[in-house]
Amino acid sequence: MSDVSNTLGGTPTKDGAFLSVRDLKVHFTTSDGIVKATDGLSFDLERGKTLGIVGESGSGKSVSSSAIMGLHRGTNAKLSGEILLDGVDLLHVSDEEMRKRRGRDVAMIFQDPLSAMHPYYTVGNQIMEAYQVHNDVTKREARKRAIEMLDRVGIPQPDRRVDDYPHQFSGGMRQRAMIAMGLINNPSLLIADEPTTALDVTVQAQILDLLQDLQRDFDAAIIIITHDLGVVAEMADDVLVMYAGRAVEYGPGKEILTHPEMPYTWGLLSSVPDLTASTEAKLIPIRGNPPSLLNPPPGCPFEPRCDHVAKVGGDLCKTVLPELTPARSGGNHTKRCHLENPDEVYEAEILPEIAPDLVED
Ligand SMILES: Nc1ncnc2c1ncn2[C@@H]1O[C@H](COP(=O)(O)OP(=O)(O)OP(=O)(O)O)[C@@H](O)[C@H]1O
Ligand code: SF4
Ligand SMILES: [Mg+2]
Repeated sequence: MSDVSNTLGGTPTKDGAFLSVRDLKVHFTTSDGIVKATDGLSFDLERGKTLGIVGESGSGKSVSSSAIMGLHRGTNAKLSGEILLDGVDLLHVSDEEMRKRRGRDVAMIFQDPLSAMHPYYTVGNQIMEAYQVHNDVTKREARKRAIEMLDRVGIPQPDRRVDDYPHQFSGGMRQRAMIAMGLINNPSLLIADEPTTALDVTVQAQILDLLQDLQRDFDAAIIIITHDLGVVAEMADDVLVMYAGRAVEYGPGKEILTHPEMPYTWGLLSSVPDLTASTEAKLIPIRGNPPSLLNPPPGCPFEPRCDHVAKVGGDLCKTVLPELTPARSGGNHTKRCHLENPDEVYEAEILPEIAPDLVED
C-alpha cells in the first residue's frame, strides 16, 4: 500500500487489514441540497475481529455500512473513497461483480428482521434462496443446508420450523433466522446493524453469544452497529464513534471505554446506565441535537452541544474542524477535538460524574 493511502482520511492503515475503508464519502443529492451522510470515514478491520460503530440516530452508521454492501448503487447517492475487501475495491467493481459478492463475501443483518424478510415466503425458502444464489445446488441440498443453519443458530425443531412463515417466529427467532441467512454462505465480513435493539435483555445476550460463537467458527470479521455501549463493551475489539457523518473517536474498545478523549464520547458514556454498575453514577443526556447534514457548520460539529468550548479558547471550535489526531493515551487511539488535555478533563470532571466508584479519594 502506498504512503498516500496510508494516511488518507487522517487514520493510519493497519498493514494487512482485511477490510480497509479509506476516506469514504456518501453524499445524497436531494431537492434541498447535498446531504453529507458519510463524510470522509476511514477504518480497518481484521478477520476474526469485531468493530463496533456507535453514534446517535442519523450519524451515518447505516448509510456507511450499506455502502460496503453496495446498496447505494443506482440511487441518489454519490460515493467516493475506497472500500478494500481483501485488496479488492468494492466501490469500483462492476454491478455484476458486486451482486456476486453480496451475500457471499459480505452479508448484512438488518435493523428490522420483520421488514427485511418477505412475509409471503417461508423462512426456509428465504434462507435456501440466499444459498442457491451463490451455489450450484439442488433444492433438496439447499433445504438441508438451511435446516443445518437454523439448527446452528439455535432454532428448536429446525426440520419443522423451516416451513414456518416469518410471522410465526418470535422476534428473537427471526433475528436468529436472519443470522442464519447472513452466515449461510460463510461470508468473510458480516455487518450486523442494531441486531439486538428490539429484543429483551436475555434474548439480546443469547444473540450476542451466538454471534461470537459463529465468529470463532467462521473466522469472520464483524461490524456491529449499535446505540448500546454495553454491546460494544462486550463484543468489540475496536470502536468507532460517529458524529454527523464522521469518525470523532476511534481505537481499541477498551481504550475508548476507559480513556475517552472526545466530549461527544463522554456524552454517550454519561447517558447510559449500568456501564460501571455504580449506584452513585448520574445519567446525563446529551443536550441539543446533531447538526443538519445539509449545511454543516464550518467548525467542530459538536460545538453547539459541547460543555468544554471555553477550555479551547478563541473561536477555534466554532471555525475549524478538528482533524482526527492521535489521542494522548497513545496506541492506535485517535480523536477529533481541539482540547489540549482531554485526558485530564476526563479524569477531573467526567469520571467523578459517571463512575464515582472508580475515582480514588
Ligand atoms: N436516500 C437518502 N437521501 C437523503 N438522505 C438520506 C438518505 N438515506 C439516508 N439519508 C440521511 O443520512 C443520514 C444518516 O442516516 P443513517 O441511516 O446512516 O443513520 P444511522 O446512524 O444509521 O441512524 P439510526 O441509529 O437511526 O439507524 C440521515 O440524516 C438520513 O436522513
Ligand atoms: S473541538 Fe471544541 S467543540 Fe468540539 S468537542 Fe472538542 S472542545 Fe468540544
Ligand atoms: Mg441505522
